[in-house]
Amino acid sequence: MSKIYHSIMELVGHTPLLEIHGFEKKHNLKAKILVKLEYYNPNQSVKDRIALAMIEDGEKSGKLKKDDTIIELTSGNTGIGLAAIAAAKGYPFRVYIQDQVSRERFQVIHAFGGETVKVTEVPEIVESMEKYGADFVECVKALEKAVQGQKVWFADQTRNSANPEIHFRTTGPEIWEDTDGNVDIFVANVGTGGTLSGTGNFLKSKNPDIQVIGIQPTPDSFQTPENPEQEEITGVHPFENVEERFIPANLDRNVYDDWYEVHTNQAYAAAREVAKTDGILIGASSGAAIHVALQLAEKPENAGKTIVAVLPDTGLRYLSTNMFNEDFQVE
Ligand SMILES: Cc1ncc(COP(=O)(O)O)c(C=O)c1O
Repeated sequence: MSKIYHSIMELVGHTPLLEIHGFEKKHNLKAKILVKLEYYNPNQSVKDRIALAMIEDGEKSGKLKKDDTIIELTSGNTGIGLAAIAAAKGYPFRVYIQDQVSRERFQVIHAFGGETVKVTEVPEIVESMEKYGADFVECVKALEKAVQGQKVWFADQTRNSANPEIHFRTTGPEIWEDTDGNVDIFVANVGTGGTLSGTGNFLKSKNPDIQVIGIQPTPDSFQTPENPEQEEITGVHPFENVEERFIPANLDRNVYDDWYEVHTNQAYAAAREVAKTDGILIGASSGAAIHVALQLAEKPENAGKTIVAVLPDTGLRYLSTNMFNEDFQVE
């Protein structure tokens, strides 16, 4: 029987789960670390899942019309996933993107025929940033104001319930099936909260004893006027120790049992290390997930347990940053 795919939509999901034996051995770990390699998606990130799910949900509900321009506010990966699927389905696409996001992301969106608008070019967003800082939730509200009256459909990943739902329907079941239900701890970053909430809720529905761990960047991982050169962990946002209104609607605050903070340099160090121990080139938030998985694996009470960490994207998307720049000290 032939095995020919007929659209990139058919290539989304079913990503592999890899045990990082080299890393486990180097650290003499008594727990297993399994990583879900989301760069196996057709556009190399976990966000292909939600891009497809949100567009199909918009089509089904009738809210997304054939001649609408799809728009989104994103640090890049959702923009790339949406741009590719919009191209394949024939929709125009425009993304509002943070200025400091790596150059590769802009280029990739343009390659798919998408339009990029820097958030600093939108007066409503600039005004919001002056008031609340570069807060994602507030920026979303400002964008809605900016596009009022335009023929656009806003994918809106922070509030669109198709986001956590697709992780509940695909990411969670894939992990459950690939481990034959042998998973004790699940680790994921939080940007919109979709991955952690959807996958975490699915795994807990199968086994309520599975521990779900969220990750956020440390406060000093952000660019500030005093620290303008600071590289950030792209795509992730703090959800603990922040004001309620900064928490994305798609984060289920009841799903996680604990949370950890990771500095950009710690994320970079872990990514550099696992590239050498296991031959996988992963992005910054993936490095953060490995850093946390290691801390968990080293706890005596976790000996013999299986930790599953979602690695959202590929390191190839970070080559213009200091992530793999050997001259840039991370330890
Ligand atoms: C690289 C990267 N890691 C992690 C995340 C966080 O995933 P989620 O939005 O499902 O919380 C994102 C989201 O933009 C991302 O782009």
